[in-house]
Amino acid sequence: MSEYQDLYRQKLTDAASIAARVESGWVIGMDAATAHTPKIISALAERARKDEIRNVKVHSMLDVYPLEYFTDKTLNGKLNGVSWFAGAAARKAINEGYADFIPSYYRDSPGLMRKYHNFDAFCTSVAPMDKHGYFSLGCVSSYSEAMIEKSKRIFLEVNDRQPRVVSGPQIHISQVDAIIENSMTLPVLPAANIDETSRTIGGYIAELIPDGACIQLGIGAIPDATGMALKAKHDLGIHTEMFTDSMVELIACGAVNNSRKQIHRGVSVTTFAFGSQRIYDYIDDNPGIVFLPVDYVNDPNVICQNDNMISINAALEVDFWGQVCAESVGTRHMSGSGGQIDYVRGATQSKGGKSFIAFTSTAKGGTISKIKSTLTPGAVCTTSKNDVDYIVTEYGVAHLRGESLASRTKQLIAIAHPDFRDQLTFEARQRGIMI
Ligand code: COA
Repeated sequence: MSEYQDLYRQKLTDAASIAARVESGWVIGMDAATAHTPKIISALAERARKDEIRNVKVHSMLDVYPLEYFTDKTLNGKLNGVSWFAGAAARKAINEGYADFIPSYYRDSPGLMRKYHNFDAFCTSVAPMDKHGYFSLGCVSSYSEAMIEKSKRIFLEVNDRQPRVVSGPQIHISQVDAIIENSMTLPVLPAANIDETSRTIGGYIAELIPDGACIQLGIGAIPDATGMALKAKHDLGIHTEMFTDSMVELIACGAVNNSRKQIHRGVSVTTFAFGSQRIYDYIDDNPGIVFLPVDYVNDPNVICQNDNMISINAALEVDFWGQVCAESVGTRHMSGSGGQIDYVRGATQSKGGKSFIAFTSTAKGGTISKIKSTLTPGAVCTTSKNDVDYIVTEYGVAHLRGESLASRTKQLIAIAHPDFRDQLTFEARQRGIMI
């Protein structure tokens, strides 16, 4: 048995024992999504239920497991979540007042952690240890390195279903305080419902994407539909925050080969992957995909180095200025900024690049127009009027960058749902916009 296996055995324990080490007032950190450690968190929740700990906080982002600090309101005051980008459960917990939220650009999170935060423990899910004593951090590389630097202890949940990423961050057994094993399939993102409307929007965007472009796709049906509409393209590249199912599809069908990228030629670049088992199988042991920290991957000055950079993201509403809200419905919290603005900036600064914000023209069964004269009071502005580029709905494409308020307003009304165009025109005239 190697010295590393000896160390592994010495550090191997169970979740209850790790939870027993946690003291009231601790701050614990986890990276995003599939990096979370559900078994350790459940053991911690058990202690909180027994009133054995108070005021323990867990920082994480994009919850994809039913993490008890977001799903169990009775833990409030004992075990609370602090989200850096909300998934569905965090969204509910934040809006109901038993979880907190840190606004930030995803790109800034490693720097903010290094500058302003300290963690009593960093917990992460990893692939099994290799013969040199290293654990791959699997599908997520976004701010783990920053959290490791700022954490007093490291607790690992070793999952043999976690892919081993060959070009991504690793932790060595010598750095680790305690280990548990938890063999479980990773959570999957339910397949997006790509309906006729999403396909239409994806088709408009695909027409504006040249062969050889480098793409970023955000979360949701429209980015996925656009991905599917790119299957007939050639020599596409990938530089993206989130690596998605449609990207695996584009690689499999030969549309993506990364051959025309200016940086990281020949490989796809991402900071995390989340989707179906197909993604996890694809990234396992695959030198064709590189996982790098988010402060590098999402840096607009890095993104723009690839020519013809194309970013495609979603939104909840857009006003006549082109101010994009992608994070709240009025004051109701929905999401974080993620990398939207960084990819808007990176794409628009890239030679030949374009940024698309795409959404269906209405919400709530056609009763609400997502194109509005003004953002709803309390709405968060994610992408500013000075950065916005293309806006797309099922009624067409508006190009706002470099255009006047009047031109923007006219173009946006033209791609609003027909049922709302008269009202929007009336509101524009009332505001004195020259249309
Ligand atoms: N007014 C009221 N409700 C609205 C609305 C509006 N203008 N627009 C959407 N909604 C409602 C929908 O009806 C839906 O409600 P439901 O959950 O009850 O069905 C909900 O809000 C979500 O809308 P949907 O259009 O399905 O959103 P989505 O899943 O496509 O996600 C974002 C859209 C903007 C939340 C998502 O893209 C995101 O998180 N963006 C963050 C920023 C970003 O782009 N980051 C880069 C990629 S990570």
